[in-house]
Amino acid sequence: MENNAIIELQNISVEYPGSDHFAIEDLSLTMETGEFICVLGKSGAGKSTMIRCLNGLQIPTEGHVLFEGNDITAYKENKLREVRTNMGMIFQHFNLIPRLSVMQNVLTGTFGKRNDVLSLIGYFDQKEREQARKAIDAVELSPHTNKRVEHLSGGQKQRVAIARALLQRPKVFLGDEPVASLDPGTANRIFQLLKRIHEKHQLLTLINVHDVNLAKKYATRVLALKDGKLIFDGKPERLTEELLETIYE
Ligand SMILES: Nc1ncnc2c1ncn2[C@@H]1O[C@H](COP(=O)(O)OP(=O)(O)OP(=O)(O)O)[C@@H](O)[C@H]1O
Ligand SMILES: [Mg+2]
Repeated sequence: MENNAIIELQNISVEYPGSDHFAIEDLSLTMETGEFICVLGKSGAGKSTMIRCLNGLQIPTEGHVLFEGNDITAYKENKLREVRTNMGMIFQHFNLIPRLSVMQNVLTGTFGKRNDVLSLIGYFDQKEREQARKAIDAVELSPHTNKRVEHLSGGQKQRVAIARALLQRPKVFLGDEPVASLDPGTANRIFQLLKRIHEKHQLLTLINVHDVNLAKKYATRVLALKDGKLIFDGKPERLTEELLETIYE
C-alpha cells in the first residue's frame, strides 16, 4: 500500500439482497489525505453505496475496504463504530435534530467518541462546549448558537452539520449530496467552506455531487460511477463534454 493512502478499496462489489444487479461492481481505488474528491454519476449509479462502504455502514459482498491499512470488512459493529468516529459525514437532508439548538446539535458530534448515555440529557463538560463554540465559529454561525435549528435556512443547517462533523476531529470528511437541496450560491459557499476545512485540517474529503461545475471548481480528483462501475478517475480538467454525456446519458 502507498504511504499516504488512508482508504483503499480492493475489488469491492455490492449486491443488495433480492437485487439482480451489482450496486457496485469490482471497484478498486486508493484515496489519500489531502485529496478533495468529487464523485459524479446519475441517480442509481452507486454513489451512496460507495460512501457507505467507505465508512463501514455497508459491508461489500466481495472485496476489502482498508482504513489506514487495516481491513475493516471483517470488523464487528463496535470496531466499525470506532472507525466511523474518524469520519465526519454530512447529508442532503442534514440529519439534525430540528427542535434542539445549534449548540446542542453540534455537541452531539461527540457522541461517537464518548458513547455516554449522559450525553442524551445534555451533560457536556466545559472543554466540549468550548470545542463546539470553536466549530460553530469556524462555520460562521456564532450569532445563531442558541437558536433552534428548525428556524435556520438550508445553508445554515448544513453549516451546523459541518460543525457537528468537525467536533469528531475527523480524518475523513464525507458528503452524500450535501448541497443537493440548496440554491447555487449557497451550494458554492458550502463548498468554499468544505475546501477551507479540508485545507486547514489536512483531511481526505469525498463528496457526492450532481453539479458538475462544483466538481470542476473544487475537486483535486473526480470519480464517475455508472451502473456501479468506475468509468472515470482523473483531474477535473480532463472531464470533457463527451465524458459528461456518457456519465449522464
Ligand atoms: N437498500 C437497498 N436495497 C436494495 N437496492 C438498493 C438499496 N440501496 C440502493 N440500492 C440500489 O443500488 C443501486 C445504487 O444505488 P445508490 O443509492 O448507491 O445510487 P446513487 O448513485 O447514490 O443514486 P442517487 O443519485 O439517486 O442518490 C441502485 O440500483 C439502487 O436501486
Ligand atoms: Mg445517493
